[in-house]
Amino acid sequence: MSSLKSASHPFANYQLEIYQEGLTGNLPTIPFAFSELEKRARETLNPGAFGYVAGGAGAEETMRANLEAFRRWRIVPRMLRNIQSRNLRLNLLGFEMPAPVLVAPVGVLSIIHPDAELAVARTAAELGLTMLLSTVSSFPLEEVAKVAGPRWFQLYCPKNRDFVSSLLQRAERAGYSALVVTLDSKMLGWRPRDLGASYLPFLRGIGISNYISDPVFCKSLKKSPAEDMAAAIVRWTEWFSDPNVTWDDLDFLRAQTKLPLILKGVLHPDDARRAADMGMDAIIVSNHGGRQVDGAAAALDCLPKALAAAGKMPVLFDSGIRTGADIVKALALGARAVLIGRPYVYGLALAGEAGVRAVLRSLLADLDVTMALSGFTSLEQLSSEILERVS
Ligand code: FNR
Repeated sequence: MSSLKSASHPFANYQLEIYQEGLTGNLPTIPFAFSELEKRARETLNPGAFGYVAGGAGAEETMRANLEAFRRWRIVPRMLRNIQSRNLRLNLLGFEMPAPVLVAPVGVLSIIHPDAELAVARTAAELGLTMLLSTVSSFPLEEVAKVAGPRWFQLYCPKNRDFVSSLLQRAERAGYSALVVTLDSKMLGWRPRDLGASYLPFLRGIGISNYISDPVFCKSLKKSPAEDMAAAIVRWTEWFSDPNVTWDDLDFLRAQTKLPLILKGVLHPDDARRAADMGMDAIIVSNHGGRQVDGAAAALDCLPKALAAAGKMPVLFDSGIRTGADIVKALALGARAVLIGRPYVYGLALAGEAGVRAVLRSLLADLDVTMALSGFTSLEQLSSEILERVS
């Protein structure tokens, strides 16, 4: 036991905690392997909700490609280095973070668990991780803010500009400290699992809380959402996303808020370059977990070129992170931090707040242990030099 302790760190200590709990007969209830986590979520959730989370666009080729891309890189561990004292902290856009891990925006979490985004916000706060709250959250952004720690607001750019302004003002007032604009979802992806079950929660009034709690949105309706939910849902379908939005509209967003502006869903190096040229604060290389364009390149495969084009602008990454090794690989390829998506949603499905906590602590511990055993004690030591590409 002493050798375990001597290499300890708040994240890696989770490992010890689990083994010690086992001595008293308390075995873990949340699986550690992603495949098992997903299997258990399938058994727990209703088929529509499970399909909504697990599914991707088209034949789900891109969803699979996201995972396969990680298998083409292998870490080459270094030996006989002192790994006693480790530090995973970073400063990103002026924000101090305990680890290069953020909680990805995932909408409509009440289809997964009644505590939905509140459970995620509480857990992220406890761990000091930054939570990205989706525009299509089940609870209004102000309610989530009350229980959240560090938080950024994710925006699906809606059609009505007064409504955009109103949303941004609300987010700023509620203490969200950055604006993440998701670019890849001007319309819904073609998702066979959802289509087969004819399952779209928004049309049942789920995931539209930020809309029906908004004064500009409500003013556009003849009757309040409480009186006529059907009309509110129709308005939501009209306003959800603006297909006309282009790069020029980023100036409008810039003028609306003083918050750092981050673009999520960049894949092509030219788009990364353009974001940098326009003075964006950061980008997130992501293909939305393969939910939008089937046949699109794996997000990890796009990372090196996007990074080269981004210059000094920080690049974050998501789509396919399942283990600590995946995080190390994305960081070694140059991402400043990664976003966790589906894994924590499955944790939420299995045990609400405790499930989210178990999944996020596992990923942090796995990251810490993987870095340590590979001979690295800080994020600055990670570079593509530590990786080997296999064909
Ligand atoms: C998402 N994602 C997402 N992204 C976003 O910007 N706003 C949103 O509301 C949502 N909603 C959402 C719902 C569900 C069910 C999933 C699975 C994903 C995308 C998310 O932020 C992230 O990009 C992906 O989850 C990353 O892929 P993996 O790692 O989860 O496969």
